[in-house]
Amino acid sequence: MYQGRVHRVAEDGNAAIDGADRLVGHVRVLCDRFRALTGIQRPGRHRVNRPGRLPRWPLWLAGLLAGCGGEMSILDTAGSAARQQFWVWWAMLAVAVAVSLGVYALWFYTFCRREPASRTPREERRIMLRWVLGGGVALPVVSIVALLVFAAPTGRGMLPFPEGEAERIEVIGHQWWWEVRYPGEGEEREVVTANRLVMPAGEPVDFHLTSDDVIHAFWIPRLGGKRDMVPGRDSIVRLEADSPGVFGAQCAEYCGAQHTHMLLHVEALERDAFDAWLAERRSSPELQPGFDQAREAFGEHCAACHTVAGFPDELVVDDLEHDIRGPDLSDVGSRPSLGAGVLPMEEGAIAYWLQHHQTLKPGNRMPPHHHIDTETLHEIGAWLETLEP
Ligand code: CUA
Repeated sequence: MYQGRVHRVAEDGNAAIDGADRLVGHVRVLCDRFRALTGIQRPGRHRVNRPGRLPRWPLWLAGLLAGCGGEMSILDTAGSAARQQFWVWWAMLAVAVAVSLGVYALWFYTFCRREPASRTPREERRIMLRWVLGGGVALPVVSIVALLVFAAPTGRGMLPFPEGEAERIEVIGHQWWWEVRYPGEGEEREVVTANRLVMPAGEPVDFHLTSDDVIHAFWIPRLGGKRDMVPGRDSIVRLEADSPGVFGAQCAEYCGAQHTHMLLHVEALERDAFDAWLAERRSSPELQPGFDQAREAFGEHCAACHTVAGFPDELVVDDLEHDIRGPDLSDVGSRPSLGAGVLPMEEGAIAYWLQHHQTLKPGNRMPPHHHIDTETLHEIGAWLETLEP
């Protein structure tokens, strides 16, 4: 009897060792595959130094960590909505990691388990049904409902409630630039600018969003969002910047060939500075004297699509039958970039843009200027650069 038990223990032990061996074998195969993918060598092995075969894992790591900072990072929050979204992001990541680990564990288990004991078809069906209902129905329902409950307050926080208690700024998406409008009240003049959004810091701002052509999406990663901009529809997102600063923003919906060249420069200013910025632009525009030739050429070639506040009507030659609206250029000289982030604004940049815009941003709606001589383009550029409030 004693002998029999020893025998059985030995048999069980052998089976366990077999199982462990198989598991180790599987793990080795997996490890080798992982090494082949990442370029990591097994310790103790000498590798032949082949040119062009540097380990790739530092690149992977750098790529992963690059998303943690910078002006376009959702993890470097600068406003209340972004902070709430930050926690939703982490919660979703945690759930996703837990689900992935569970799936990998099951997958591993199927590799390592012993041959199943013989089961009747009925038992097989019962087990299968249990997995389908548990893993395929109950688990997703529970996780999605839990995430929904967790995330709902965040979504609500970006709705414009209570109404009328926030600065109103209108943003209109175009292929491929941003129109930003500050409506006037009563006698006040409306202020229109492009590719630059100035907002007050430390208070909520309602962004009224729409599009002039296709669907774009408004997204200031460090402040929160994003929200689709749908033609014919006004959607509102309420965001707040904790303190003054400069933030990157980018169209977040593929909207055509130049979707990547649809950057928006966002500046949050103290309330006083914001009021001053707006007041400068609201005051009656007066064009500085000089640049007569440039203005004449602008009236002839550009004014059908582009507005400059205070530009004399009699100079506008509008013989074009179209409904194209180009960026308002009233304060173009004070903007940080040209072409929605294509060129930094510096001396000579506008003239360069006027000559090469179809190479720098192919497909944009401004026609090529081959019919205008270079000297005139330089004059127009030099004049536009002076346009600051
Ligand atoms: Cu606009 Cu993408």
